Amino acid sequence: MDQAWGLKNMLAAMVSAPEGPAPMPPAHQASSLLNAAARPPRRRCRAVAVAGGKGGVGKTTVAVNLGMAMSMAGHDVMLLDADMGLANVDVLLGLLPSRHIGHLLDGECSLRELMLTAPRGLRIVPGGSGARRLAQLDSAGHAAIIRAFDELERPPEYLLVDTAAGISDSVAMFASAADEVLLVVCDEPASITDAYALIKILSRDFGVRRFRMLANMVRNEGEARQLHQKLSRVSDRFLDVVIAFCGWIPHDERLRQAIRRQSAVVDLWPSCRSSLAFKQLAGTVDKWAEPERASDRIAFFGSPVTPAAGY
Ligand SMILES: Nc1ncnc2c1ncn2[C@@H]1O[C@H](COP(=O)(O)OP(=O)(O)OP(=O)(O)O)[C@@H](O)[C@H]1O
Ligand SMILES: [Mg+2]
Repeated sequence: MDQAWGLKNMLAAMVSAPEGPAPMPPAHQASSLLNAAARPPRRRCRAVAVAGGKGGVGKTTVAVNLGMAMSMAGHDVMLLDADMGLANVDVLLGLLPSRHIGHLLDGECSLRELMLTAPRGLRIVPGGSGARRLAQLDSAGHAAIIRAFDELERPPEYLLVDTAAGISDSVAMFASAADEVLLVVCDEPASITDAYALIKILSRDFGVRRFRMLANMVRNEGEARQLHQKLSRVSDRFLDVVIAFCGWIPHDERLRQAIRRQSAVVDLWPSCRSSLAFKQLAGTVDKWAEPERASDRIAFFGSPVTPAAGY
């Protein structure tokens, strides 16, 4: 763990300060505050798991930039790095957490003490990196993490959960505990088959029936919709699920440049192609119908939920 820690410090030092993110224009700040004040309070926090099955499809990139785009729009957003043992949200944002989820599980700190604030007010719950114990947590451990959010005095409007690659119990538990599962899919056969495998496990073993699909690293909307059709065709045939198309993020070199500078692209270059797509996605997510409570799955923020009518 110490080595991972040293590496993160080194990375943070390597990112040159003068190139840091541009400050938020005062007008934007004011409009964010006005937006937040004008909006009626949500009844409860909505948890959105960002998943995908395959590694490297952009789950963390989406979780970070969607989270920040929502924060910039005036929402109170928290991001849980649930890629236990290989967590890297903090690295992407140039943050240096002094504790991780393992300290919470050991009772050494509270969830609030664990949290870090990223630019634009996005709150981050860091998962640990390089800790085998976290990578091998059992379901009681995962349940303890999910339940820890019940204790928050000030729950956020949105909790985004960045999940690991694969179809492990950890991924399934975090995804099924969320109100929404946002599947990040890119145009590669393995991405579609792995997303399908995850949908199958979540529907068959965890009772998740509805999913949202985001196409990542595509060239245009046509390509994104084709991807959605490919995934839906096979799911419709073999599984009792609904997969709603919820947008696309273009392949954008700016995104990679932002990652190298340990910043979110929406913060660094708010008008570039991918930033505009993330802002649009943030607006889409905010329009999703409020889920109703029911079912007996373990869930973030108390009682689990079932789909709202009209989904
Ligand atoms: N829209 C995009 N355009 C260009 N590059 C992208 C885009 N989305 C993601 N990437 C790049 O793809 C790589 C993988 O992204 P990321 O780490 O977010 O994937 P992941 O699904 O979280 O991976 P893992 O499964 O290992 O956690 C990164 O280098 C990122 O910069
Ligand atoms: Mg990731």
